[in-house]
Amino acid sequence: MIAEPINVTQTREWKKLKQDYEDLQKQGISLKKWFKEDPDRVNKLSFDVADFHIDLSKNLVTDQIIQDLVALAKAMHVEGRRAQMFSGVHLNTTEDRAVLHTALRRPVSDEGELIVDGQDVVKDVHEVLDRMYAFANDVRLGKWQGVTGKKITDVVSIGIGGSDLGPVMVYEALKPYANAGIAVHYISNIDPNDAAEKLKGLDPETTLVIIVSKTFTTLETMTNAREVRTWLLKGLKAQGYTGSDADATKHHFVAVSTNLKAVADFGIDPNNAFGFWSWVGGRYSVDSAVGLSLIIAFGPKIFEDFLDGFHTMDTYFVNTPIEENAVMLMGLINVWYNNFFGAESHAILPYNQYLHRFPAYLQQLTMESNGKSTRWDGTPVTTKTGEIFWGEAGTNGQHAFYQLIHQGTHLIPADFIAFVNTKNPTKDGDQDIHELFLGNFLAQTKALAFGKTADEVRREGTAEWMVPARCFAGNRPTTSIFGTDLTPKTLGELIALYEHIVFVEGSIWGIDSFDQWGVELGKQLAKQITPAFHDDKALAEQDASTQALIRFYRAHRH
Ligand code: F6P
Repeated sequence: MIAEPINVTQTREWKKLKQDYEDLQKQGISLKKWFKEDPDRVNKLSFDVADFHIDLSKNLVTDQIIQDLVALAKAMHVEGRRAQMFSGVHLNTTEDRAVLHTALRRPVSDEGELIVDGQDVVKDVHEVLDRMYAFANDVRLGKWQGVTGKKITDVVSIGIGGSDLGPVMVYEALKPYANAGIAVHYISNIDPNDAAEKLKGLDPETTLVIIVSKTFTTLETMTNAREVRTWLLKGLKAQGYTGSDADATKHHFVAVSTNLKAVADFGIDPNNAFGFWSWVGGRYSVDSAVGLSLIIAFGPKIFEDFLDGFHTMDTYFVNTPIEENAVMLMGLINVWYNNFFGAESHAILPYNQYLHRFPAYLQQLTMESNGKSTRWDGTPVTTKTGEIFWGEAGTNGQHAFYQLIHQGTHLIPADFIAFVNTKNPTKDGDQDIHELFLGNFLAQTKALAFGKTADEVRREGTAEWMVPARCFAGNRPTTSIFGTDLTPKTLGELIALYEHIVFVEGSIWGIDSFDQWGVELGKQLAKQITPAFHDDKALAEQDASTQALIRFYRAHRH
């Protein structure tokens, strides 16, 4: 049974934090001063977590504030909720479901069974994993062939949201590990341009299509699946294939879904359908069968390492007391900025080109999870929830939007993610380019924290009227997440880190971070509106603005 959410804003601990915030405003915030006065600050606020060194010291917190944030987490029973999540309690109240993505990466060797709603969860997870590994090996080794007997060279993965963003992000992040000569192409958008571009140059005879959809009803995915099937059948026939459509579908289409009946109705052999469960949210599913394309591209061993990374972070998160738990503290510090400083957004800045889709992936994870106005019992939230997450990889952001972070009027906490080693060590003369890159990561976090004073600017000979424009106030908060190497394991750790940050924030706000009702209305309306492009009666039912837009469409379509 889930307890009614506590009104966080009425707790003594919240009021204390409000006081802390007001005191800070009076005393003035100065990271420079705080570092100077407390030589142990970095030490106290740095954490070695799995393969990462996480430095929270450039955040706008003092010892007292950390202590008060920890007290808030305790008052909101975050530890108890954490235990409930890991044991399969139905924390997803509006869908009456357990929240068990952590079971997807639990090794069989872990002590004890996990029986949830009568299901031996870990056993089931490993059964599907074993089937996926066997299937992926067959594809990789050429034992699985297209209907005309050719080895698969390309995989097209069709899905959207959680059935796409995770696999794409990981595929990009682990590209150096691709080792089977099989390329994966991801189609998500219902815009026909997406499929058209991704299918260009592919040979239907050597293409395997994976339809990834938890529900197997999602409009975009099912439309794209039919479109790609038409393309594939047409292409095969043009190349001389004379067999049946059903046979071709069986050889070229497999599925990942919780809705195995709909998969069979599509014509996919149930033996080639890989299931997952209602207790895995779409945005928490990259480590389930949703990752099938990754196993084909990288092989089972690499996927195992990836899962091991998640599990390593889970183990840390679940076993470490709040005050020493960097994941808890990161979630709590986000609440501190969001609710006390009024920060609207949070930047994710990976200093690694392979992570270029990581901010997009995190947008769904964080914003679909915590963008809520009601609490888990249906009552309204009592404070602001979910921040807007956004970002860009590497130094590209520096030449685009960092200006606003450094000198603008918004407070934008930022996570910098970097790795000690690179897969592509290169020199420019004597200069190690990766070190030059890392120098930028460190320079940015330093500039944001400590800024540049008017005196420093003057000393450079700047004309007096221009001095203010060249000053940097500093005290712009950042967290540095520094890993050793970007590997399958550390990527798993990184994803789990953010999954749990989301959980901590949701627990403080009293919301169900695992449903997503906010995406439903648009889906329903799209069905009602689409006929209006041609049908006057449907057009007349629309509001004035929608009608005007459709008239513009009608007047200009070719
Ligand atoms: O955007 C809503 C949503 O339900 C996501 O939560 C989910 O990841 C995505 O659509 C795709 O859903 P499905 O996997 O069922 O096709």
